[in-house]
Formats: sequence, C-alpha cells, structure tokens
Amino acid sequence: MTEARISVDREAVVAPLNRRIFGSFVEHLGRCVYDGIYEPGHPTANEDGFRLDVVELVKELGSTTIRYPGGNFVSGFRWEDSVGPRDQRPVRRDLAWHSIETNQVGVDEFSRWLKLTGSELMMAVNLGTRGIEAALDLLEYSNHPSGTALSDQRIANGTVEPHNIRMWCLGNEMDGPWQTGYMTADDYGKLAARTAQAMKTADRDLELVVCGSSGSSMPTFGDWERTVLEHAYEHVDYISCHAYYQERGGDLGSYLASSLDMQYFIETVVATADHVGNKLKSKKKIKLSFDEWNIWYLDEHQASDEVNDEWRVAPRQLEDVYSVADAVVLGNLMITLLKNHDRVASASLAQLVNVIAPIMTEPGGDAWRQTTFFPFSVTSRLAKGEILKPRIDAGTYETKVYGEAPLVDSVVTTDGADSAVFLVNRSQTEAITVTVNVAELGAQTVTEAVTLWDDDVYAKNTLADQNRVGLKDLEGVVLQGGVLTVTLPPVSWSAVALA
Ligand code: AHR
Repeated sequence: MTEARISVDREAVVAPLNRRIFGSFVEHLGRCVYDGIYEPGHPTANEDGFRLDVVELVKELGSTTIRYPGGNFVSGFRWEDSVGPRDQRPVRRDLAWHSIETNQVGVDEFSRWLKLTGSELMMAVNLGTRGIEAALDLLEYSNHPSGTALSDQRIANGTVEPHNIRMWCLGNEMDGPWQTGYMTADDYGKLAARTAQAMKTADRDLELVVCGSSGSSMPTFGDWERTVLEHAYEHVDYISCHAYYQERGGDLGSYLASSLDMQYFIETVVATADHVGNKLKSKKKIKLSFDEWNIWYLDEHQASDEVNDEWRVAPRQLEDVYSVADAVVLGNLMITLLKNHDRVASASLAQLVNVIAPIMTEPGGDAWRQTTFFPFSVTSRLAKGEILKPRIDAGTYETKVYGEAPLVDSVVTTDGADSAVFLVNRSQTEAITVTVNVAELGAQTVTEAVTLWDDDVYAKNTLADQNRVGLKDLEGVVLQGGVLTVTLPPVSWSAVALA
C-alpha cells in the first residue's frame, strides 16, 4: 500500500502544549559542559567562558527546560564544590564517568548560561551519596531570596536574585546497578518521600520528579514504579521515564518502529501510577517526566571509549554521530511524546551538546547541527496551541521486535490560526501519498513544508562535512477543499505548517 489517509478531529484534543515537552539535558559528562557549552579560550566565548556560537544553536534548536547536572554524575555531585571563587573550587573524581571534574562550571554559571539561551533550569539532587540535608541546602542556596547563611553565600558569590528553580529531580536512575548508591525500590521510595516532604516544607510549590525506571527492559520495571509511588505518591508531581533506542543487528525495520516501545512504556507507567493513586484514594494524577530520551549506540560505546582506566578532564565520551534514519526515529519519538502529552508533561532530549547530542563542537573550532537537530528544532518551532491526535488509516509492515507496525505516524497541533502536521514514513522502499483531512482546522494555505530524508539513510553530518544532511522542501504539497495531500519519501520525517 502506498497511500494513507489521516483525518483531523478538532475535538480530539490531547492537551494544550506545555513547552516543557521540548526540554533537554546538560550533564557533566564527556565534552557536554567542558569543550561543549564552555570553552574560555574559544573565539566566541563570553566573559563567563560560554561559547556564543553554541548558544545560538541551542536557541535555534528551541529546547526549553534543561535538566542539570546529571544523569549518573549527580549521584556523586557535591554542589558546594561548584560555587564560589573558581580558583578555590576543588578538583574531584567523577566516579560515574571515570573522569576529572574541575568544577569550573557550577550552579551559578549554568544559571547564567540558561539566561543566554532563554531556558529554564530543572535541577537534580544527589540521592546516591547524599540525602535530605544536601538537597535542602542546595534548595536554600538556589531559591531563598536572602538573609540566611546559604542565600547570603549565593549573593556573596555574585548572584543577587534567587534562581527560583521550580522543577527538581529526586536523584537519578536509582534502580540501576551502575548508579553510585543505587537502591531497592523500597529504600529509594522511602528516601524520595522524605526528601520530597522536606523540600515541599521549604516551598510547597516546587514540582518534584521521583525516579522511575531507567528503561522498560529493566527487570524491576513496573514493580519499581509501584513500590516507589506507594511511598512517595502524595509528595511528588512526576515520575521519570528514561529510554534510549538504537538500530541493532542491521534490523532497520524494527528500529524505525521504536516509538511503539515508547508508547508501551508510557502506557505501562500511566497504568501503574493510576493503580497506586486509586489504591491510595488520591485525587491527584501523577504526570510523567520523560527526562532522558534519545538515540544512543550504547552497545558500541561499552565496547570502546568508556573502557579506559585514565582519569581525564572532558574526555570524548558518547559522541554518537547520527544518521538520517536516526533523525527519522527521533522525529517519531517526538510525535509519540506529543500524542501522550496529557500525561507526559515534561521531556528532556538527552543530551544537548557533544554527548549523544544534536549539537557538536570542536575545541577552538566549529559548532554544527547533527541530523537529529532538524526534527527537534522544527517541531519546537511549529508546534503551538493544542495537540490533536489524528485518526490514521495506513498500511502496516512486519517487524522482528514489535510484530506488525503502522507505516505512517502523525500528530497535529493548532492554535486556531496556525496549525502543523508532523508525519513519518517508516517504509524503507515506498513513498507514501497521504491525504490529510484538515477541514476542521480551517486552514487556507501551506506556509512551510519540509522533510528530512536522503537516498542514503545512513548519511551523517561530520566535522569534515557539516552540512551533508539538512531539511529539504517537501515537493508536491497540495491543499485543496480542506484536504492536504503530501507524498512522504521512504524513511522520512516531515512537517507541514498551515495557516
Ligand atoms: O544520558 C547519559 C546517561 O544515561 C545518564 O547519565 C544516565 O542517567 C543514563 O543512564
């Protein structure tokens, strides 16, 4: 089948768009911070040492809330090391990534960087080697206006206004045996509940994220969420989900259908959270914070750069170079996040610069866009108003991992004046002509129609060839009588903007 039909029902609203769904993640890992966003000697660096060429790309990417400072890193993080006069900050070992942390960038500098990019900070506290007291101290340092030991310390360090951080993660991936100080669900649930209760005593309007599973293939998946929420339900607002995808064993068909796993993951966590909420007779619904999601060729890294006994500052770690196929999968994962936006209220593309990232840099040199940059930036720019879940009538194909998978996926957004249709064609061989009934959107004109595809699905942007892959015009788009007709190339992600 090379045709598909989509119809848009103006009433089928998933949720109003909360721009936190376009969040990202900056971890003290590899070259994400050092030689990534921060490189004092770079020709574009500002007085804080932040690269302004990277700032421009981050703005173009359109990422919103940024999770910081980890990740696995946070489970050994002593926040006090990262503030105060830079020449007095201790140099530490980071056990998570087996590297040296110089602490030249910390809470105050990163908050200044966020102002440059127009982003919001989502802070994680260390529940691996530390606990309630350190979390409360960081909260006081960051958010208390003045007149206490730690708020006055912040002011003395040069930051007069409080950072006013709203979203806080209660540790990171505490279910993972790789995590410094990892715990059982029962132990973590109790610690998270007590930490959350204490933090909300200081500020009841904080939005707190409790750790869910590190992936849907974790042996404790489901049970972990249930146990943790049985302890922490009334104290927290979100439960986290983390998922990374990669093509395995040359099975492109299954890889292109990765969003089916994300859908299963979301539905399972929602069902589990609601089960606990109902059991507790709670009036509130727990939201999902999908605060790590991306493509990550994890199997290949385990076999290469991470196995190194040296203690290095900002080593090249997790520097995946992404293909067209990777970008199509990423665009599809964004469609899935949007379709579940009634429960997935926040999400963070992991990560932002150099480390499994849409933006790459060279020390003293260029910054450029990976293939995955494009679906993220276009979706963030065009999505407005409300998310609509369209009805999709398309053929299917057989995958080894997921069985039958639809060939086409799509989501629609509209604010009444401007609308956008996002589409994916998962077929490896066929272009698919899709008719989209957009009559209920009242659209009169097509204002933009772009696609990401290439004859070579493994084409990439590299240091030597930074613009090999980019957006192309989607040819032959017609809007007539309330029906939009588009032809999606094989293995492609596309967006059509309507006014
Ligand atoms: O994003 C890279 C790592 O993936 C994070 O540090 C960790 O939380 C996850 O396992």
